Amino acid sequence: MSGLVDVIACESSVCSIENSVLCYRGYPIDELADHATFEEVIFLLWHGRLPNQTELTYLQQSIIENATLPKKIYDLLSLYAPWGNCMAKLRTAVSFLTHFDDNVMDPSPDADSHKAILIITKMAAIIAAIDRIRNNLEPVDATTIQPTSLAELFLWLLKGEKPTAIATKALDKCLILHAEHELNASTFAARVTVSTMSDMYSGIVSAIGTLKGPLHGNANEQVALMLEEIGDLSRVEPYITDKINRNDRIMGFGHRVYKNGDPRAKHLKALSLELADWHQDRRWYDISVAIASLVQERKGLMPNVDFYSASVYMYLGIPHNIFTLIFALSRSSGWIAHILEQHANNKLIRPRANYTGKRDAVWIPLSDR
Ligand code: SDX
Repeated sequence: MSGLVDVIACESSVCSIENSVLCYRGYPIDELADHATFEEVIFLLWHGRLPNQTELTYLQQSIIENATLPKKIYDLLSLYAPWGNCMAKLRTAVSFLTHFDDNVMDPSPDADSHKAILIITKMAAIIAAIDRIRNNLEPVDATTIQPTSLAELFLWLLKGEKPTAIATKALDKCLILHAEHELNASTFAARVTVSTMSDMYSGIVSAIGTLKGPLHGNANEQVALMLEEIGDLSRVEPYITDKINRNDRIMGFGHRVYKNGDPRAKHLKALSLELADWHQDRRWYDISVAIASLVQERKGLMPNVDFYSASVYMYLGIPHNIFTLIFALSRSSGWIAHILEQHANNKLIRPRANYTGKRDAVWIPLSDR
């Protein structure tokens, strides 16, 4: 009962995880990771089928054309202290986007489809702005760059220069691998929120707040901190032994659904090795592999999606403060797919609780307490 373990809370055609095989709309993650672009995955999740060239080009153009942010968003982000939590900044900024959309409360498919594009592309711009403002850098004006994908757009806005093809392709694959995962906690939060016929922005804000936790999306940043704390291959064994002896949670390992390994981990491990060799620096990759081997040997736990994504983002030169925000950017495609599905055939989500408290209490006047 606790944590709703194995409880079926709704019917959905967006994503399946059966016998540890992850599929988006019936397409296995291995196929999508090897052949798709993130934009093809976005279209697949939102429309239930792969796009043709016209539809794909339209989606790509819609994303790039909507990447500019109202100046007031930058002003809002500038109010935060540089050391403020970046997921809290993202949650606030996405909530503030509501004030620039005249159709917020219109749950019609057309209005929701327009919101979907605005949310995912402006989240990319917001995340890049959060990091640049935090580092006292001017945000990049999206009208001055010519990206051809969301991955390239994000890296260009983040770094202020056109990213390399290998970096763009690596991030695109990460976005695909993090896009959707059935009824994980943040997706469930989004569905509960919009099941009251609340708006898509509110559903996304609920989901961001849920993903923020270290047991869910923030594990990737915690893994990066662990890798940096270990620092050297020779310190893996003592560090992990100490954590196990203290019965600490080891971030990036274990999963509620997968008990024999997360099918996404192998793709992220391969990506980490590819980037390590491109950088001619296997340090983070080697430390990660050594940790995974020891944790599996000692605890029987396997890496989840957050484990190798940490070293991938480190090799991409992305600050770990925004690792979870990139997870949110990718997962906004899945959250939106579930919001569209919930709105299309809505029933208020309202489970019951098993009452364990006091019964037949007798009122005591204040003077007698
Ligand atoms: C994500 O749900 C999704 O689909 C999420 C996600 C997605 O794509 O949306 O896949 C993304 O959130 C991945 C998970 C990221 N979180 C972490 O890496 C944090 C560390 N992992 C754990 O806290 C844990 O594995 C969970 C939260 C992911 C799953 O926990 P469960 O299913 O609630 O299992 P549990 O916590 O009851 O653990 C079962 C046993 C426990 O031992 P006992 O107390 O019963 O003796 O396994 C142990 C746990 O102590 N255990 C761990 C561990 N994970 C489980 N022990 C040490 N380190 C760990 N990481």
